[in-house]
Amino acid sequence: MQGMKLVSNVVAFAALVLSHQIFADTATETGKAPGDAAKGQEIATQVCAACHNADGNSSIPANPSLAGQHAEYIIKQLKNFKSQDGKPAERESPIMAAMVAPLSPDDMKNLAAYYAQQTPKPGVAKDKLLAEQGEKIYRGGNLETSVPACSGCHSPNGAGIPTSYPRLAGQHSEYVAAQLRAFRTEQRTKDANNEMHIIATRMSEREMQAVSEFISGLR
Ligand code: HEC
Ligand code: HEC
Repeated sequence: MQGMKLVSNVVAFAALVLSHQIFADTATETGKAPGDAAKGQEIATQVCAACHNADGNSSIPANPSLAGQHAEYIIKQLKNFKSQDGKPAERESPIMAAMVAPLSPDDMKNLAAYYAQQTPKPGVAKDKLLAEQGEKIYRGGNLETSVPACSGCHSPNGAGIPTSYPRLAGQHSEYVAAQLRAFRTEQRTKDANNEMHIIATRMSEREMQAVSEFISGLR
């Protein structure tokens, strides 16, 4: 029975990797028009800096750093925070829902261009032992529970792969762990076939904390 379970897990994992290949091909079509970073900076300074800092390197663990994040990914998240046609937002956040409400599609592009150009500050993991456990998951996943290696989509150094796979390197561990929980409960992405939802449902709380700690010091 153990053997059967492992085989079905490997098949499920292969399907996951395959579906992400298809995703990657279609995603390159989007986000071609570059935004105006100078216009983006105006809004960033007036509105967003209070929580994400002027250069997008947030100093508050609950607020993500945006510096160096891929523009297409930022645009997608800003859209996902908005509720469309009376349906609940794809990504639930009362704070960010209020922030995106007044933004036009051009504002979003401009903000994304600004943050993508900022230099991310490298972080340091606070708990070295926990980070070592997290590194194993990041680079090798967990074969027994079919958790794929994070590095396959987010790249070995955490820089991500535009346009679909966000940068993770140096992100606050508290924020990363909160997002993994949000993917699990579908507070983020209402799609049961979403790759991050599937991955997060296979992870233990301990694994989430470990991999988040590792990511916070990854560079
Ligand atoms: C009052 C604090 C606050 C302000 C002001 C704010 N944000 Fe945020 N932002 C947050 C928090 C908290 C989150 C995490 C939400 C979650 O848990 O999903 C977030 C998440 C984001 C994300 C998702 C990042 C990722 O890695 O997925 C983007 C993009 C973002 N904010 C952009 C902006 C922009 C652009 C502005 C200005 C128009 C702004 N924020 C203003 C608090 C704030
Ligand atoms: C099959 C590809 C794939 C794999 C493997 C993968 N991810 Fe992701 N990840 C994604 C995609 C796509 C997104 C963007 C989701 C969106 O657009 O909202 C994402 C988003 C994230 C985010 C949100 C980042 C932010 O700024 O809010 C975190 C955190 C994350 N992944 C962590 C992980 C961890 C930890 C692992 C390994 C256990 C992992 N991912 C493995 C594809 C993947």
